[in-house]
Amino acid sequence: MSESRRIEVNLGPRSYPVVIGAGLLGGLGAILRAEGLKQTGAFVITDPHVAAHYFEKVRASLADSGFAKIVRHDITAGEAGKNWDEFTKTCAALLEAFPDAATAPLVLLLGGGVVGDLGGFAAAVFRRGVPFVQIPTTLLSAVDSSVGGKVAVNFGGVKNIMGAFSQPRIVVCDLDALRTLGPREIRSGIAEVIKYGAVCSRSLFEQLEAGALEKMLALDPPTLTDIVAQCVRLKADVVEQDEHDKLGIRNVLNFGHTIGHALELSADYALTHGEAISVGMAAATRMAVQLGMVHLSFQKRLTVLLGRAGLPLTHPDAPSLYDRILRALQLDKKFRDGKNLFVLPTGIGSWSPRENVDWPLVHDCVRAVLVA
Ligand SMILES: NC(=O)c1ccc[n+]([C@@H]2O[C@H](COP(=O)([O-])OP(=O)(O)OC[C@H]3O[C@@H](n4cnc5c(N)ncnc54)[C@H](O)[C@@H]3O)[C@@H](O)[C@H]2O)c1
Ligand SMILES: [Zn+2]
Repeated sequence: MSESRRIEVNLGPRSYPVVIGAGLLGGLGAILRAEGLKQTGAFVITDPHVAAHYFEKVRASLADSGFAKIVRHDITAGEAGKNWDEFTKTCAALLEAFPDAATAPLVLLLGGGVVGDLGGFAAAVFRRGVPFVQIPTTLLSAVDSSVGGKVAVNFGGVKNIMGAFSQPRIVVCDLDALRTLGPREIRSGIAEVIKYGAVCSRSLFEQLEAGALEKMLALDPPTLTDIVAQCVRLKADVVEQDEHDKLGIRNVLNFGHTIGHALELSADYALTHGEAISVGMAAATRMAVQLGMVHLSFQKRLTVLLGRAGLPLTHPDAPSLYDRILRALQLDKKFRDGKNLFVLPTGIGSWSPRENVDWPLVHDCVRAVLVA
């Protein structure tokens, strides 16, 4: 068993640790108590896939640590469940289980990014905010969504348009939980890992190129611990500088996400988040090349790495898909004054924002990733 790692996200009074290691779920209750969390009620938001594997372990550990009332609430698994209806059902279940303000529960988000985003939003608004814990069970949520405090649901056909900033009290990332993920979900998480390398860290990108990628695909324990910890540190660095996404620094995390998000929703959940982001990174890279912002060699290296991970660079075209993507681009959270904000690579590990990209070029880049 590899050693646990502890990474601090330093946000003044909202600071919290991210604990990464193997076999952590069995000791979850003790970890929470050691963190000073004293609640006796726990509201565990999860989904049926995750709960089937891990709820009992979590429940037993919480019960052993003095949680007297433990309530489980399942949301519909996958992106289709990240909606307003599931959100309000979750709020209703919270209120029904814990109607007394004196016994507000600790909310535990046991699952991937969908559980973390939706459940975190419910915890952020229930009684104007109750403490919550992120327990990521996908690679994607381990390296990205469980850290940083962005919580949200999709609404009106727009990704993450209803949401809040609310930081967890602690993130407990048990790497053993990733072992029940299918290969497609592992690849999906690797898309975000490649994103960090491509625009935040040349050394991570080169480590992936040098073989860490295949070790990640195989969930090799030391590589997994090392790379998840690197990604969490990279994300924490960005979030510490721009917690509320006001300074433009946090935009870096959106590489591949402008066209990626538009595709993700327009394709009716045919792609995982990571797959959509992979296609989105291919599109954004094409844009950067066309604008002369990055050398062709970047495109080549990124394409090779995404290919080695088994991630898509294109998506099969379908009737009206192109139009739906263009419409979705105009509904993007960051769409302002008739233009999208694109995060474009300028070299391995570096990036630059671009707001004034002409529509014909945007159209060309969307067209290029839709194949017959
Ligand atoms: N808040 C943020 O900063 C942020 C960052 C990146 C992504 N996101 C969001 O994250 C979401 C994607 O997250 P995701 O990829 O984790 O998707 P997900 O939560 O839908 O999980 C993917 C699938 O894996 C299953 N699953 C989860 N853990 C499992 C396990 N250990 N074993 C077996 N099956 C398991 C789930 O039930 C689901 O079917 C998107 O909605 C995206 O917008 C948010
Ligand atoms: Zn993402």
